[in-house]
This record gives sequence, structure tokens and C-alpha cells, in this order.
Amino acid sequence: MSAETFDLSDLEGVGPVTKKRLQDSGVHNLMDLVVRGPVELGDITSMADDTCEKIVTLARRRLAETGAITKDFASGTEIYERRKRIGKITTGTESLDGLLGGGVETQAITEVYGEFGSGKTQFCHTLCVMAQRPKEEGGLGAGVLYIDTEGTFRPERIVTIAKAHRMDPAAVLDGIIVARAYNSSHQVLILEEAGKTIKEENVGLIISDSTTGLFRAEYLGRGTLASRQQKLGRYIRLLSRIAETYNCAVLATNQVSSSPDSFFGDPTRPVGGNVIGHASTYRIYFRKGSKSKRIAKIIDSPHHPNSEQVFELGERGVQDSEEYLKQLEKESRKKAKAKEQAEDAASAAGPEDGGDAATVEDGGNPQGGE
Ligand code: GTP
Ligand code: MG
Repeated sequence: MSAETFDLSDLEGVGPVTKKRLQDSGVHNLMDLVVRGPVELGDITSMADDTCEKIVTLARRRLAETGAITKDFASGTEIYERRKRIGKITTGTESLDGLLGGGVETQAITEVYGEFGSGKTQFCHTLCVMAQRPKEEGGLGAGVLYIDTEGTFRPERIVTIAKAHRMDPAAVLDGIIVARAYNSSHQVLILEEAGKTIKEENVGLIISDSTTGLFRAEYLGRGTLASRQQKLGRYIRLLSRIAETYNCAVLATNQVSSSPDSFFGDPTRPVGGNVIGHASTYRIYFRKGSKSKRIAKIIDSPHHPNSEQVFELGERGVQDSEEYLKQLEKESRKKAKAKEQAEDAASAAGPEDGGDAATVEDGGNPQGGE
């Protein structure tokens, strides 16, 4: 798709003055307009409500015409076509890929929650590397936007993981754009202004680590709960719209509420309650096992059965545990043996059936004879 189709001046009624006003508010192209929506556009530009409605509608129509986004009314076939574009990022492990049905998907939010040290940030680092692998090797062949709210992004760790996967560490580092968020408003702003970067840098994975930490620290006390949830809700909706509009995968981490005075009492519940839960397509709960062992459990997935899997933290970031690999090997040996036995049995019975088999093969050949 040409870049011009995304230009703001393409829209009827958007002259140089409006264009500048939009750009000054961080809206650079038609995708940005659609992602923000008319209400937010009114808030950030102070333009009249009906003008915002009109501009966003025109932008949506234009993008739908070019096929960049789905129309307001789409046929089942169109939705099917769109879903066929869903990409998957391998986790680099058999165990977690199995749990996730192949990997972390685009056009969806995958939420990982768990206590401190459960491996959420390690999982994010691993995905930063894996997303950049070519499609044939389980990646998206795309860049990564890492929204780091806790200052825990470690380039050294990326280098180790990339090397362990035999990838060029320098190239992998180059493919990651890190945005450090200093407070919750800044965190929302980064995402609001991310459209341009996502397009220009061909971003296929957005990481939000941690999603709730800053909100939790800034909004203390029950009196502020409603405004916290409202702002958090807006951030999550933005993540969700971006995932769909740009065909990106979103990986959002979240802590669990552990202190007795926290807003949500259950220590195994994610912070933010249902605000995130409703928006995320996949929720995974990480908990600690012994030493470097961790357990991942799928919660409320639309099409994965609830199940658990053990994995490890190590050189490759997240990796299969030795037990799991031994089990896999045992199973493949068992399969190979069963196959061998079946072949032996077939060849033992061979001479009797041989003639028939040849006849069937000849007769069944569609190109054979007239
Ligand atoms: P919070 O952000 O505090 O909620 O925790 P988290 O879930 O993000 O935990 P994180 O992913 O940071 O996991 C920390 C654990 O990862 C440590 O306890 C280590 O066991 C492991 N880890 C971190 N760095 C390395 C590393 O370089 N090599 C190995 N083998 N393990 C590491
Ligand atoms: Mg972390």
C-alpha cells in the first residue's frame, strides 16, 4: 500500500491548518485517526465534535476502501480473509508453543500475569528476539516496540538470547525500539503516538512490560480506583485497536495483587481486574516452581483447553525443561519403534499382498491410460 493513502491531506475538509493541528496532537496519518476515535480526537485537538466525527468517518472509509482495515460491515469471507493474516511468534520452546497453540498471535492481546520473578520480563525478552526471525522460522520477520515502564529492559539479555538462537545480536538489537515510560500518562501518550513508528519501523510485536505497575503506584487508595480503571481501560483499548488495525501481536505483562491492602484481595488475581481481562484474548498465569522452573497456565482462552506446562528460565530466555525434552525424546522413540514394527509386520505380510497392491496402484493412477 502506498504511503499517500495514509496522508491526512487526502481527506476532504482537512486543509493545512487542520493538518498541522492534528500533527501537533500526535496524529500523523489515517490509521492514527481511526485508532484514536472521535471522542479522543476532540479531547486532544479541541476541535468541534461533529468535525472530529466527520474526519474519523472519512478516514475509516478511505482505509476500508484500500483494504487496510475491515469495513464496518464485513462478510464472513472478509473476516475469514483477515483472520488468515494472523501471524504467530514462536516462543522458542515446544512446551509453551504447545500451550499457546503455536505461539503468540497477532491481532490479539496476550496477557501474562504472575508474581515478581515469575519470568514475565524474561518471556518478553525472548519474544523480542523470536519475533524478528523470518516467518519460515516461526517469527514475523518484523520489528518490536518495547514499552518499558519499570526500566527492566536489558540489551545484554537480548544479546545472550539472540546468540543462543544463532541470530546476529546487533541486528536483533537494531530491530527493537524501546520506549521508557516514566508515569502512567506518559505510558498512554507513548501508545497514542506509536502509529507512525509502527508503520515506519514495520513493528509486528508490541510489548507492554509492565502494563499496570505505574497505574498501581500512582493511584493509591480506594477513592482513586475509578479514575485509575478508566485510564487503564483507555490504554488497553488502544492496545487492542492497534493490534487489530496494524496486524500486530501485543504482549502485556501484569502483576498479581499480593499485599493485603491491595484493591483486589486474591493474591493470584491479576491487577486491574476485568479491565484487562475483557480485552485480552489470551491470559497466561506464570508461577514459580523450584529453582529455574516455572509453570505457565492458560486462563480463559476462547479456544485452548485450560492446561499447564512447565518451562525454565535460562540461556535461551524461556526454554524447555530437561524433563520435558526427555519426555519428548521418549515419545518420539516410542513412535519410531511403533512405526518400525508396523513396517516389519507389513513386509512380513508383503508377498501375499504384493500383486494386489501393484494392481491398485496402476488402476488408481488418474493419468494412467485412457
Ligand atoms: P517482576 O517484574 O518483578 O514482577 O518479575 P518478572 O516476572 O518480570 O520476573 P523476571 O522475568 O525478571 O524473572 C526474573 C528471574 O529470571 C530471575 O529470578 C532469574 O531466575 C531469571 N533470570 C533473569 N536474568 C537471567 C539470566 O540472565 N539468565 C538466567 N539463566 N536467568 C535469568
Ligand atoms: Mg518484570
